[in-house]
Amino acid sequence: MQCIPLFEDGPLVGRIAMGCWPIAGITSLGVNEQSSLATIHKAIDEGINLFDTAYSYGFNGESDHLLQSVLSERREKVFLAHKVGQHWNAQKERVVDARPATMLNHTKECLKRLGVECVDLMYLHAPDPAVPLAESAGALNDIVTQGWARCIGVCNVSLEQAMEMSRHCKLAVIQIPFNMLQQEQHRALRRFANEHQILIACYWIYMKGLLAGKLRRNHRFSPNDKRLTYEIFQGKSWDRAQDLIDRLDELSATKECSISQLVIAWSLQQPNVDIAIIGAKTPEQIAESARASSVSLTHDELSIIDGYISEAMR
Ligand SMILES: NC(=O)c1ccc[n+]([C@@H]2O[C@H](COP(=O)([O-])OP(=O)(O)OC[C@H]3O[C@@H](n4cnc5c(N)ncnc54)[C@H](OP(=O)(O)O)[C@@H]3O)[C@@H](O)[C@H]2O)c1
Repeated sequence: MQCIPLFEDGPLVGRIAMGCWPIAGITSLGVNEQSSLATIHKAIDEGINLFDTAYSYGFNGESDHLLQSVLSERREKVFLAHKVGQHWNAQKERVVDARPATMLNHTKECLKRLGVECVDLMYLHAPDPAVPLAESAGALNDIVTQGWARCIGVCNVSLEQAMEMSRHCKLAVIQIPFNMLQQEQHRALRRFANEHQILIACYWIYMKGLLAGKLRRNHRFSPNDKRLTYEIFQGKSWDRAQDLIDRLDELSATKECSISQLVIAWSLQQPNVDIAIIGAKTPEQIAESARASSVSLTHDELSIIDGYISEAMR
């Protein structure tokens, strides 16, 4: 597994990280405790050492509780990236609340759930329109000063918001969505990140499973599958994505890798894509993703894929 320092003189974390949203069991179907635990263990066995969790991953902190049970056996193998500033209300609706007091309370609760004294990275999950970014950044500074996190990140920001955050705290990582069909936010942020030596950690590399290559044109989704509400899973966008997947399928056959591994390899070879956070709910899925670390694309192969993407975006 290729590694990268999380911050200057910081720990070396794998560039493929495991995203723990699916095992939280809120939107992924067929998740259970046994296979979720096996998935985390498999991730570690395959060389993954960075786990992306959050206060809101599970209505009752399920992702943290699962990690805790693995941490008790394999603490030295795991780096933790966490997020505060979002939670669920009694009606199971998502609430953005990045007031400093809430962020500090979330942090204390997460550390307790995980059974650790400190996480490696603490993100603001999303800017709270009701709270100045300076205040949320101040809370992250306090979290580091208290020794509860080693460095600071922010998710889901525009360039202006990232600039504002970095006026008030030292940002180590920005986390945003990025994949072959969704590159705008990354394009807007990458120069700033590069100039300020901030890592970019990307989520939805598989576009929630679509680009993992197993959901093909004639896939029949369960009516409970919330992915059907995303535009990319509907109509013309779905057809164009399927055309792209067909082309990737041909190329992956010549590379003797899976479509998902080609997708991760392409992503990690894009400038300023430092970490690919890949969600998984089974050991087989995370093993396949982790093994993308051995796939490398030539300049020509990268250009061919870029051509496929341009066609799909037309
Ligand atoms: N900061 C934020 O606001 C934010 C937002 C979103 C996500 N994230 C983080 O980023 C992570 C990644 O996002 P995500 O989990 O939503 O989506 P993702 O990584 O794009 O896709 C994950 C899904 O792809 C499918 N999959 C994974 N490996 C596969 C394989 N080898 N073959 C076939 N299918 C495979 C699984 O879905 P099925 O088996 O159900 O098809 C899995 O749940 C999250 O887990 C979370 O840690 C952060």
